[in-house]
Amino acid sequence: MTDSVLALEKVGVRFGGLKAVDSISMNVRRGERRGVIGPNGAGKTTLFNAITGLRPPTTGRVLFEGRDVTRMRPHLRAHRGMSRTFQITNLFQSLSIAENMQLALEGLSPRRFSMLGSRRLRGEEADRIDAALRLSRLDERPGVLVKELSYGEQRQLELAMSLVSRPALLLLDEPAAGLSAAERSVVAEIIGSLSRELTVMLIEHDMDLVLNLVDRVTCLNNGELLVEAPPADIRSNQLVQDVYLGKARRHAAG
Ligand SMILES: Nc1ncnc2c1ncn2[C@@H]1O[C@H](COP(=O)(O)OP(=O)(O)OP(=O)(O)O)[C@@H](O)[C@H]1O
Ligand SMILES: [Mg+2]
Repeated sequence: MTDSVLALEKVGVRFGGLKAVDSISMNVRRGERRGVIGPNGAGKTTLFNAITGLRPPTTGRVLFEGRDVTRMRPHLRAHRGMSRTFQITNLFQSLSIAENMQLALEGLSPRRFSMLGSRRLRGEEADRIDAALRLSRLDERPGVLVKELSYGEQRQLELAMSLVSRPALLLLDEPAAGLSAAERSVVAEIIGSLSRELTVMLIEHDMDLVLNLVDRVTCLNNGELLVEAPPADIRSNQLVQDVYLGKARRHAAG
């Protein structure tokens, strides 16, 4: 079994003249928690889109569990064990928690499975949904409509939906964005409690949150990989301070 779940080889994504992701190479080990940081527009989401296939790279290669998936369509990567959440909430507001979970599961199941329609399958699906909701602390009231949930609970539901396929690699794009401090700590606890069989990549602007959760941090700037280091070295890194913390402080100061 290979130790590397994800390998990027000089991955580039170009939008016209803009190199949104510029020749990024990295390796993510099985079970690793990897933080991806960098200022707005650094290329973090575009990198996730290249990994998951939403926006395939214009140059370079993406290897998932040793297999070249650079040109593989997103749903096939999902079948192979990639899952993600989006920066913006992406839920069916007038459906219940359980219904959103079913849709998430349906989207990942081969069609022939749903055609079987057997009791056993429905039971297995229910178990999966229940397990993912329990991990995300939403198992108490599956019948509640999404529009009745707090924003924090909606983000928890997105986590649950990304877990229901039992992925090998989970990519979380700012899962705590827009949340209160209390809601952020719930999301952080959920991520921290995930099995180490799962490999997690986490884009997050909240430094305290990301540095406490991950084994290693990749800092992007202008589409380039600026620094890769353990969390303990990130705060004191001059390059990171210059491009990221410096800007974050200026934002905070208004
Ligand atoms: N579909 C697109 N077409 C053209 N340019 C794009 C597109 N998507 C992203 N970009 C540009 O690519 C660059 C990287 O954007 P990206 O969304 O990856 O940044 P990010 O690091 O996720 O930023 P943020 O922290 O604000 O989410 C930006 O300059 C952005 O404007
Ligand atoms: Mg982004």
